[in-house]
Amino acid sequence: MHHCNITVILIMSFKNTINQSNGYFGEFGGKYIPEVLRPNIEEVEKAFNECKDDTDFQQELKLAFKEISGRPTAFTPLRNLSKHLGGAQIAIKNEGLNHTGAHKINHCIGQILLAKKMGKKRIIAETGAGQHGYATASVCARYELPCTIYMGRVDYERQRPNVYWMELLGAEVIPVDEGKKTLNDAVIAAFKDLVQNPEDSFYLLGSAVGPHPYPAMNTYFQKIVSEEMKQQSNEFYGKNPDYVLACVGGGSNAMGAFYDFLDDENIKLIGVEAGGISSKDKEHASKVSFGKLGIFEGYKSFFLQDNDGNILPTHSISAGLDYCGVSPILAYLHQQGRVDFSFATDDETLKGLQLCAQKEGFILALESAHALAHAIKIAPDLPKDKLIIVNASGRGDKDLFITMKEFQKEQMIEYMKKTIKENE
Ligand SMILES: Cc1ncc(COP(=O)(O)O)c(C=O)c1O
Repeated sequence: MHHCNITVILIMSFKNTINQSNGYFGEFGGKYIPEVLRPNIEEVEKAFNECKDDTDFQQELKLAFKEISGRPTAFTPLRNLSKHLGGAQIAIKNEGLNHTGAHKINHCIGQILLAKKMGKKRIIAETGAGQHGYATASVCARYELPCTIYMGRVDYERQRPNVYWMELLGAEVIPVDEGKKTLNDAVIAAFKDLVQNPEDSFYLLGSAVGPHPYPAMNTYFQKIVSEEMKQQSNEFYGKNPDYVLACVGGGSNAMGAFYDFLDDENIKLIGVEAGGISSKDKEHASKVSFGKLGIFEGYKSFFLQDNDGNILPTHSISAGLDYCGVSPILAYLHQQGRVDFSFATDDETLKGLQLCAQKEGFILALESAHALAHAIKIAPDLPKDKLIIVNASGRGDKDLFITMKEFQKEQMIEYMKKTIKENE
C-alpha cells in the first residue's frame, strides 16, 4: 500500500486571530462584566458580527468616513526632518486632519452607525481628556441621538474647553465626584448608567479596550488607517514601510496603524507608551513596559497596579495617554513577539513636537509626538533607504494650554490676566 504523507502547514495569521476571536487573544481579553450587562454587551457583539462582513454596512461606513471626516487622510514625507537626522526616511500618516482633530472619530462613526442599526435611543460615553467625548458629541449631533458623557470632576475642571465643545454640540456632560475623580471613575459611572438603561442605551467606547467585542470592534473601525497607509506608502515610496510607529494610550490608533501590516513580519511595529517624568510608580503610563497582568473594566490585560492589585495613578504630559490599561490585543501581540514596545518621556516628546513644528510646519498632538520622538531616536542609526511611518494620531491645537505653558509660560500668564481683566 502506498502511504501518502500530507503535511499541513499552519500559517499563523494575526489578522485572522483578531477577526475570528471570541474575545480572547491568548490569555488576554474576555468579557468580565456583571450579569445585568451581559444582554446589552452580547447584543452589541451580535450586531457587530452581522455588520462587519456585510457589504452594505461597509459601503455606509466608507461613505460616512468620506463625508464626515474627509478620508483618506493625508500622507506626508517629512523630508526636512529626515535630512536633519541623517538616517532613515520618516513620513507621517496625518490622522490629525480628521474631523474633530484625531483618529477617535473613526471608531465613533463606526459605533454610531451600529447603534442606529440596533435601534438604540441614546448614547453613553466617558472621556478623560475630552477628545473622545468631543468626537462622540459630534457624531451624536449628526446622527440625532442624545448623549450623556461622564467625566471625572478633576478632568471636567482642567479640560474646560473640551467640555464647552461637547455642550455646544448638545451633549449632557456629567462630572463624577467618586474616587479619584478621573477617567476610571468616569468609566464606572458610564457602566452604572448602562446597568440602569440596558435596553435603550449604547455604550460608545473610546479605545480598543473594555469587554469583548469592543477591542476587536474598535480595531475593525480603525483598520482603515493602515489600509490607506499601505497604499500611500507604495504610491510615495514604491514600497511598504520598514517601521510603523504609533503612540499607545488604550491602543486604538496603534491597532489601526498596525492592523494591515500584522501578517508581514518584515515590517517592524512599535508601540510607544508615555514615559512621563520617570519610570517610578505614578510618574508614567507605560503599561506594557511596567504593568502587571490583571482584570479591570471588563477585560484582562496589563495594568499599572500596586502589589495588592489596586490601580495606580498615572502621569503623562498628554492627557490621551494618561490611562492605566492597554488593549488586550496589543498585550497579546507583544507576548507573541509581533509588536515591540518602547516609551518616550515628557521631555523627549516636547522636544520632538518642537522639532517637527520648526522643520516641517506640523504641530502634532502631544500623544502622537511620543511616537515621533521615538522615530527621532531610532532614525539616525538606520540606513537612508529605510522608511519609518509615524501615525500622527491627532493635531496639536487641543494642547494649546499645555504646550504654551511649556514653551511660553510668561506670555501665557500675561495673556490670561489681560483676558480676565477685559471680561470682568
Ligand atoms: C490624538 C490622540 N492620540 C492618541 C490617543 C490615545 O488613545 P489610543 O491609544 O486609543 O489611540 C488619544 C486619546 O485621547 C488622542 O486624543
